[in-house]
Amino acid sequence: MRMKVLSRLQRYGLAIISCGIALAVAWPIDAPSSCFLLAVTVSSLFGGLGPGLLSVALSAFVFEHFFLWRTFAPARESATLLRFAVFLIATFLITVLMEIKRRVEESGVRSQEALRMAQSDLAHVNRVTTMGELTASLSHEVNQPIAAAVTDANTCLRWLTRDQPDLEEAREAASRMVKDATRAAEIVSRIRLIFKKGSPQRELVDVNEVIKEMTVLLRNEAQRYSIAVGMKLSPGLPDIMGDRVQLQQVLMNLIMNAIDSMKTVDGTRELIIQSQPSENEQVMVSVIDTGIGLPKHQADQIFNAFFTTKVHGTGMGLRISRSIVESYGGRLWAADNTPRGASFHLTLPSKAEVHE
Ligand SMILES: Nc1ncnc2c1ncn2[C@@H]1O[C@H](COP(=O)(O)OP(=O)(O)O)[C@@H](O)[C@H]1O
Ligand SMILES: [Mg+2]
Repeated sequence: MRMKVLSRLQRYGLAIISCGIALAVAWPIDAPSSCFLLAVTVSSLFGGLGPGLLSVALSAFVFEHFFLWRTFAPARESATLLRFAVFLIATFLITVLMEIKRRVEESGVRSQEALRMAQSDLAHVNRVTTMGELTASLSHEVNQPIAAAVTDANTCLRWLTRDQPDLEEAREAASRMVKDATRAAEIVSRIRLIFKKGSPQRELVDVNEVIKEMTVLLRNEAQRYSIAVGMKLSPGLPDIMGDRVQLQQVLMNLIMNAIDSMKTVDGTRELIIQSQPSENEQVMVSVIDTGIGLPKHQADQIFNAFFTTKVHGTGMGLRISRSIVESYGGRLWAADNTPRGASFHLTLPSKAEVHE
């Protein structure tokens, strides 16, 4: 636990000062061993290996010089030397053990860091593959407003090139054009944001906004499979503390799973995304479908890494989603619906105590 806040000079200074204090305290009471052991402990703990060894050398010198031979009697020479040897070994051991402890802790921190990076890489891959599956829908989503803008541009030209140009009509067509082009640009930038790889941010996020954004992106995919999408968003929910892209990813995984589960069912295909306040100032989001329902006898495994019942599934969507939600101090769980389908619920604390 070498303190990062102390400079090298300060850490060596600490070693010298603590030995000085040990000398001042030990001198009148003649108790050098315990005082210097304490000085060495303090120096190694807060200073690290170098200052620790310096304090060992200093206290050995002072101990030998001022204390060891104080009550010397020639008959006890070997006992005195032994006492000194034990002192030396003890101080040296303390320094070495502290150093080992520090290294172990540091490598623990490093491997946790590596784990976090691997998780964020995995999350990125998951996002990119999911978006890949959506290419057809997303390009439709972008093409639609662009096509509308082209139509508007033609209309605008027609109004202008008439014998008697109608400026009012032309202006209206032009402003529709601006709106459509802006919508296309917004969709593209949203998609780009999801593809982007970056370290997660902590920001205040309006959950309803994220839900609306994802519904825009996935609306077309739902339409392709004749799925009706409904939103029941509770107004005035508190913002939650989290990363917008990560939350979009969680919703994308849940919605894509819901769509997958309804692709083959006969009868109503309905997807409902709901937000509501929950106890302890939490926000609860639910994704409810009328699909095939959770896999029989295996419902408890769906959050496991690599568990999938799909031919081309990765089995990572729910695993990643749960770890994102839990990193915000929330929960993600699933339940079967009656008469059919599944619901996924997640809670997010609004005054998040962020768990790393
Ligand atoms: N909405 C749902 N309805 C029924 N089963 C689901 C639903 N969502 C997930 N599952 C089950 O959980 C499994 C794991 O989901 P996930 O981790 O997203 O991986 P993948 O979608 O690649 O299979 C799915 O294969 C499926 O069996
Ligand atoms: Mg999935």
